[in-house]
Amino acid sequence: MNVIFLGPPGAGKGTQAQVICARLGIPQISTGDMLRAAIEAKSEIGLKAKTFMDAGQLVPDDVVIALVRERVAAADCVKGFLLDGFPRTVEQARALGSIAKIDRVINISVADDVLVKRLSGRRVCPVCGAPYHVDRLHGATQCTVDGVTLVQRDDDKPETVLNRLQVYHQKTAPLIDYYQKEGLLRTVDGSTGLESVSDAILKALEAAR
Ligand code: AP5
Repeated sequence: MNVIFLGPPGAGKGTQAQVICARLGIPQISTGDMLRAAIEAKSEIGLKAKTFMDAGQLVPDDVVIALVRERVAAADCVKGFLLDGFPRTVEQARALGSIAKIDRVINISVADDVLVKRLSGRRVCPVCGAPYHVDRLHGATQCTVDGVTLVQRDDDKPETVLNRLQVYHQKTAPLIDYYQKEGLLRTVDGSTGLESVSDAILKALEAAR
């Protein structure tokens, strides 16, 4: 099954992708994680992406489309994949349509004021990218998987968060309508507890099988 997670920054796409991918046995393809890895590796793509990401802007379509085209052709995607953070523009969605057949689009919906709180308290593992929130860490500072110290993402600083939300409403939110018209969209309330969001997503995916 080929799935897209749509939703604003902080909606819980990465958190839920880990749960759903483990359940379905398909890989999570996060363009954000891929771009951060490229920055870390100081590759040409990474150098190009960094200025956009630091400013909370989208990386140019041609760069991310090429990344995804190559990634979904990998052997581990043969039984399906979950796209987390792609597509983010109508142009990316059109390109994806020529790359793969999508079975379901899950739109995780959360109000802006909740998103700001979530992103300002988010900490991530610099090795595996797993997201945590300070409210649920109870003083812990390390990733439960890798044991390394959690960090705050550069683009989770307050001024960049507001920029990212603005970019989402302007460029990515139109995809809700785009996929609604294609009959692929299911919206779940992402402001409830982690488990109930996972249950709602699994139910929406079950209906697409
Ligand atoms: P990316 O890494 O994709 O970031 P994003 O979409 O902005 O999403 P986030 O990772 O911030 O949030 P999330 O929805 O995954 O939430 P999470 O699960 O972490 O992109 C970063 C940048 O890369 C972009 O700004 C852009 O520059 C570039 N980029 C990436 N893809 C691109 C593309 N396709 N085109 C162009 N540019 C691209 O959760 C957030 C927090 O909330 C965590 O602390 C978590 O613990 C908590 N939380 C989650 N769910 C719940 C819940 N139900 N209740 C309470 N807390 C919760």
